[in-house]
Amino acid sequence: METQPHILKNMNGPPQFNVGLKPIVLENWLLPDDQVEWLKQKNLILDKSPDEVFQALANSLAAQTEAAELVAITVGKQLQQNEPPLLAASRLVSDDLIVMEKLGDIWQLTALSLCSPTFFDAKYAVGNSLALLHGPIPTGGFDLVGRIARIFDSFAPDNVLERFNWTVQWGADKYTPNGQKLRDEAASASIAEAPKMLFERVERQTIRRLPKTGAVLFTIRVRLNNLFDILQDPAARAAFENAWNDAPENVRQYKKWQPLERHVAAIL
Ligand code: HEM
Repeated sequence: METQPHILKNMNGPPQFNVGLKPIVLENWLLPDDQVEWLKQKNLILDKSPDEVFQALANSLAAQTEAAELVAITVGKQLQQNEPPLLAASRLVSDDLIVMEKLGDIWQLTALSLCSPTFFDAKYAVGNSLALLHGPIPTGGFDLVGRIARIFDSFAPDNVLERFNWTVQWGADKYTPNGQKLRDEAASASIAEAPKMLFERVERQTIRRLPKTGAVLFTIRVRLNNLFDILQDPAARAAFENAWNDAPENVRQYKKWQPLERHVAAIL
């Protein structure tokens, strides 16, 4: 798996709470699936506790179907027929799949499959508006939600937009609906564990318009790489060190990095 170019490309200073969406070529929307090894575990989670990781509003079927067909055609696989279409599509790609629809004037989350959430879960998210989902973000007065809504309103079906975010987490779990457990473990761990336990968590997000229903499909692919390994590359180390050290206090608080600070300091 590619690690270094990825982190260098994205760690361009501290985390930014901005839109940061860039167009990519259609062929790179979901392929290559560099996290395909996650699919086995993802499918087990989907089988074991579907209600935890899949939720949909009753009227989302048309948009779910359109999203699922687009995913299946893109990756050249068949959808299972005995379950909700978005859940079936989620079995085919490592990405989490989120359908947003404009109900009245408001972009709302109407269906989602969420097996690698960064500290939120499907039950919390379903039916929520963009504004509610982005409420806790310290944007400093910047109208993030208004900007996202305008992008959702206006972009063309064949365009794919991509953005990244990153954080550092304790351990390599991908399924992390609640970060508190990881933070508690980090708080009580010895710094001798830091090289093994610190991971860079990068989310690759894309959006795509569904032409028939007008819905938007939002995808999230999570990549976890051991931070200590990444830091062996001097350029990656410099990029990470700047990004970490320059992140202001409100960003550190929002990302809940406090229990990780002494561990990251130890490996830097
Ligand atoms: C494509 C347009 C979107 C943009 C530009 C965007 C932007 C952001 C930004 C800047 C953050 C802060 C952390 C980060 O840098 O990622 C964030 C967090 C978040 N976003 Fe989005 N977002 C978008 C779409 C969505 C959608 C469709 C959902 C639906 C699930 C969503 C759910 C969230 C959640 C749950 C958080 C974490 C909030 C928290 O910490 O409680 N975002 N988003």
